[in-house]
Amino acid sequence: MSAVIVVHGGAWAIPDELAKVSVDGVKAAVHKGFAVLQRANSALDAVESAVRALEDNAVFNAGHGAALNTNGEVELDAIIMDGKTLACGAVSSVKNIANPVSLARAVMEKTDHIMLTDSGANLFAESIGMATVPTDTLVTNYERKEWEKHKNYVTGVMENFNSRWAHDTVGAVAVDCSGNVACATSTGGIRNKMVGRVGDSPIIGCGGYADNFSGAVSCTGHGESILRVTLARRILSHIEQGKSVAEASDMSLQYMGERVRGAGGVIVVSPTGEWASTCTTERMAWAAVDNSVLYYGLEPNEKLKEQLS
Ligand code: GLY
Repeated sequence: MSAVIVVHGGAWAIPDELAKVSVDGVKAAVHKGFAVLQRANSALDAVESAVRALEDNAVFNAGHGAALNTNGEVELDAIIMDGKTLACGAVSSVKNIANPVSLARAVMEKTDHIMLTDSGANLFAESIGMATVPTDTLVTNYERKEWEKHKNYVTGVMENFNSRWAHDTVGAVAVDCSGNVACATSTGGIRNKMVGRVGDSPIIGCGGYADNFSGAVSCTGHGESILRVTLARRILSHIEQGKSVAEASDMSLQYMGERVRGAGGVIVVSPTGEWASTCTTERMAWAAVDNSVLYYGLEPNEKLKEQLS
């Protein structure tokens, strides 16, 4: 079977001035992840590499470019999961770390735990010699200005994630040629969140899940809604009951809209390489590589295509 990778740059009302850079960013990240997938035949390495590229790109709300909490500070969350073993690592509320997805992977591989938070995560990063950066270097002028303008969390979310105030999360899912799936998700969270608030992204089964028996999912959108419906696991449960990847994604996002009035987006891949990218927000930048074809989109239901050389 051929390997597949899908990435997203967050589901929200992406303004026109960020449309092109968002699409360019997800295309660049999927190229990076796909190169790793081809070279290493490892879905896990591929999703980490793609998410690192998105964290390094200040256009996206993860790593550099993270949204600020109510105190104007950065608090980052991330998860990574290996569908072969169900090994998982996550971090929440970390500062000073440019690539939280790699810290999450280190939690998975070098500790007996699944999640480390706040100063404990930072102490662990120090103990393994992971480079730290001054947190201010993760903050963009764009985010500082938006934070100064919009200081109300509830109003931003009430506008159904369809306002310019939100700014959400990155992620990747992949299946390698051996049929192993993996997912990774990373975020700065929602602007003006309370200090210490943790959203869906680092929570296993909510912001992401990967299982070789059903598939891999990375979610984006209103964290409190995604948590309430355990969105990633919900999608995989539908797949386990025989739904296609696209049907399971649509049904689950629709359920989240109806049950808790939440909007978001998901990318999903199955162990056989079936994949989908779906959102209920105004826009979500995403890209995929499948069988030497690059697919990408921004508007709901948009699926553009380019042949890879
Ligand atoms: N979906 C990201 C968050 O709510 O924090």
